[in-house]
Amino acid sequence: MCGIVGYFGYRDAKSIIVKGLKRLEYRGYDSAGIALYDGSDIKIIKTKGKVSDLEDKIAAKKNANGSLGIGHTRWATHGVPNDINSHPHRSNSGDLVIIHNGIIENYAAIKKELVNRGYSFQSDTDTEVLVNLIEAVQKSGNYKLGEAVQIALNQVVGAYAIAIIDLKKPNEIIVARLGSPLAIGIGKDEYFIASDASPFIEYTNNAVYLEDEEMAVIRLHKEPEFRNIKNGDLFDPYVQELQLNIEEIEKGGFNHFMLKEIFEQPKAIQDTYRGRLKVNKGLVKMSGIDDNIEKLSNAQKITIVGCGTSWHAGLVAEYIFEEIARIPVEVEYASEFRYRNPIISDKDIVIAISQSGETADTLAAIKLAKKNGAFVFGVCNVVGSSISRETDAGAYTHAGPEIGVASTKAFTTQITLLTMMALRLAKAKRTLSASDYKRHLIELETIPGKIKTVLESDALTKKIAGIYKDATNFLYLGRGFNFPVALEGALKLKEISYIHAEGYPAAEMKHGPIALIDENMPIVVIATKYGHYKKIVSNIQEIKSRKGKIIGIVTKGDTQVKALADHVIEIPETLELLSPLLTTIPLQLLSYHIAVLLGKNVDQPRNLAKSVTVE
Ligand code: AGP
Ligand code: GLU
Repeated sequence: MCGIVGYFGYRDAKSIIVKGLKRLEYRGYDSAGIALYDGSDIKIIKTKGKVSDLEDKIAAKKNANGSLGIGHTRWATHGVPNDINSHPHRSNSGDLVIIHNGIIENYAAIKKELVNRGYSFQSDTDTEVLVNLIEAVQKSGNYKLGEAVQIALNQVVGAYAIAIIDLKKPNEIIVARLGSPLAIGIGKDEYFIASDASPFIEYTNNAVYLEDEEMAVIRLHKEPEFRNIKNGDLFDPYVQELQLNIEEIEKGGFNHFMLKEIFEQPKAIQDTYRGRLKVNKGLVKMSGIDDNIEKLSNAQKITIVGCGTSWHAGLVAEYIFEEIARIPVEVEYASEFRYRNPIISDKDIVIAISQSGETADTLAAIKLAKKNGAFVFGVCNVVGSSISRETDAGAYTHAGPEIGVASTKAFTTQITLLTMMALRLAKAKRTLSASDYKRHLIELETIPGKIKTVLESDALTKKIAGIYKDATNFLYLGRGFNFPVALEGALKLKEISYIHAEGYPAAEMKHGPIALIDENMPIVVIATKYGHYKKIVSNIQEIKSRKGKIIGIVTKGDTQVKALADHVIEIPETLELLSPLLTTIPLQLLSYHIAVLLGKNVDQPRNLAKSVTVE
């Protein structure tokens, strides 16, 4: 995981890198470091902790200056988070300095070999092995740094986005990528490198996203040189014009990115369906689907793969696709799918869901599905991400940058997009009557307004959070379309408040979890007024008989659950199939407020990172 930033130009590299690292902290935040070339030496400052700790350490050193530098915010894979294991790492000679995002899987064998040749190591990282391998190659044949990097990378197995500088040649930065993202921002007389474009968006809109097995030598006042790592061939990169703007990656008056992103959902959903949902004409138009409509609507089976919240969106989609498009759906954790021998054929569709578009397990699942002949459709948020490039076709959710580690607007926009996809297929397959089809389109367009109404329950949710913040366990129950929402509610609470929580289909409670219920157990029950309402009311009675505390998510005007529950949060009436888009909101707010009241780091929960680019 981790975030990397580099700068080479005429400005103060340190401030650009530190600001950039703060924007990338969502990718990892257990230690941070910077290397600056000050005209005579490369100075490294690094520390366990956050980028703000690094900032303090830099401030204490008076002479950390330079206009060439690289920086790193780490999510440790090899070696505990401490000062020594923090990046950047130096080679034995002291000349080469590297930052790395990823894992060198065969580092142990390479390390052994290097130790035999007299190399020694300070840290436990795989990264320090890589920088010394590059040095060993460089020395073995008097290679230029770029050549040595290329040769060394052909010897490693694993994933990397790296940036390297050389004290002996402080007029270039070498970057390379395989499996971890790396963007190069191209300004006038200056270059930026970063894991995503957010560190340089206020300086330039022009960027090159390296593909796997590509590297670049970046020099000032010269065109960068792009090469394929495997064969060394030069190529002309595609320079993208970025659409991102700086406001999108700032908190905009909210205390946390997560809260901002929860409140952005009405707009994010509108952005997902803008130009695609044409209610008057009775159309859903998405080129990724329209261009492949025959293949998609004739699918024998759809397999959805994803991780975490994206997997939950897949579960909601399973109910939706089966209900209205009548295509059998299986939903699999990408991490499991990739290591099975799945029964997939060229008549199958695989839908890969990923906010970041960089999740390693999901990428690997896509590759396996493609190998088995399946047509892979991607649902990603980050434009130009690895998954969006690896899939045969796809559609972006256009939710805007999601920075809080806990996924919120990504979930609801994924569901929105998948609903539109299911409607489009239902139309092609005629599995929905014309009037039902139209009703769904009309209702989908009202969802942003209805989410605004649900967001008005923020103060009430905060009050409820205050009552239950000290609970050690929570249960979340839901049925049908809202069962995956129960899983998602539990995941949100776990990841940012560290309170243990489980999501269950409400009827499964009696097969085990009911044993947990006593007067200390808060149970969030999604009890909206649909098909299973009566059954859910019975489940609530069962909880009440065991003295559990009930927080009900109910349809506006509900009286039955209200009479039984300790608290209720109302959502406006909508179609059952669309209700997850509303019932999710109070669960997001509840976990947010509990985490804040407990003093947890909401946007950067412990042990996690926003995009999991390692296995
Ligand atoms: C959700 O809140 C998580 N932080 C996590 O489960 C996330 O959804 C998962 O890692 C998948 O990420 P992706 O959507 O970027 O692939
Ligand atoms: N494998 C490297 C380490 O543990 C890099 C991890 C990262 O991507 O942050 O230091």
